[in-house]
Amino acid sequence: MATIKAAILGFGTVGQGIYHILNEKREELRDKLGLEIEVAKILVRDTTKERIPGTAHLLTDNIDDCLSVKGIQVVFEAIVNEEPAFTYLKKAVEHKCHVITANKVMYAKRGPELEQLAKQHGVFVGFEATTAGGVPVIKTMKNILLVNDVSRIQGILNGTTNYILTKMRAEGWTFEEALKEAQALGYAEADPFNDISGQDAFKKLMILSSLAFDEQPNWADVEVIGIDTISAEQVADATEKGLRYRHVAEVEKYSDGTIYARVAPMLVDKEHPLYPVDEVFNAVTMETNYIGTLTLVGPGAGMYPTASVMVEDYAEIIGKRAGFVVTI
Ligand code: NAP
Ligand code: HSE
Repeated sequence: MATIKAAILGFGTVGQGIYHILNEKREELRDKLGLEIEVAKILVRDTTKERIPGTAHLLTDNIDDCLSVKGIQVVFEAIVNEEPAFTYLKKAVEHKCHVITANKVMYAKRGPELEQLAKQHGVFVGFEATTAGGVPVIKTMKNILLVNDVSRIQGILNGTTNYILTKMRAEGWTFEEALKEAQALGYAEADPFNDISGQDAFKKLMILSSLAFDEQPNWADVEVIGIDTISAEQVADATEKGLRYRHVAEVEKYSDGTIYARVAPMLVDKEHPLYPVDEVFNAVTMETNYIGTLTLVGPGAGMYPTASVMVEDYAEIIGKRAGFVVTI
């Protein structure tokens, strides 16, 4: 049986999750795809750090070590920031590797360029994990957009901020206590200011805008307000009034073709669909012409939800290449 050789770029929360799932699901993946997968190299910054036992020999801090593996075909990317991620994935695509990324900072800005390059080289880009963690919003949108037009998307696109707001309200934790726990659980970004400031949700919103409308609004025109503007007293006051704070991202295309987008905290009452969405959950509501309103809810961050959708992307891409649709 043939073996697919893969590299994992980044071996933190998400990278290690990919490694665990590929091991745990080795037999099922082999049976479904008719192919083995072998993780041949893992790129990190610090090759001396203790990680999953038995993986030390796979670590490198040089992308060329990953791409020079004989027969390398797939690159999973779970590092941080636009660069060097984009340069590494560009190299991987030019090397005729399929790439699967969780990096929304890179993909929001360079996604179209990467997709174009992938097309030229006959490979695929998987990016489900960039937006809403384990919630399959990208796959769902791709599946409905042939016939449906999406006019508006509204949702909670950051697990860390929803977790913090939930714990402040329901457990009386301080902002700092809740953030610390979100970091310990692997939900927060390497620099959690990206979560708290709304920048992480903004990048995800831009990815959804590209998918829904084929374009993004001018980034400088989008108002982005974080949850650092909300005090414990405001949370307590809202709770007393039967209201909840949600960190809401929304993008809408008006009939004149202009796109409006915003990320900001919002007070919602019991009747609002985002009211019950607690903890690390994300929710994405799409308004469409034929289906009507469609809402997806699920875990928006964390090792296994995120890594699992990347492995799903892998199965889909490998299945597509072989000319069949994989249903797991
Ligand atoms: P993380 O735990 O901080 O891990 C990041 C990994 O990337 C580390 O192994 C780090 O190496 C490596 N790395 C960072 N910069 C690098 C560079 N320049 N060269 C080589 N390696 C580099 O982060 P994470 O939570 O796994 O997130 C990874 C990516 O997935 C991010 O883009 C994030 O936005 C996205 N994401 C995360 C989640 C989540 O729930 N955590 C969900 C969806 C998407 P060292 O270990 O040596 O420092
Ligand atoms: N830090 C991000 C969040 C990870 O909390 O939503 C998932 O993209």
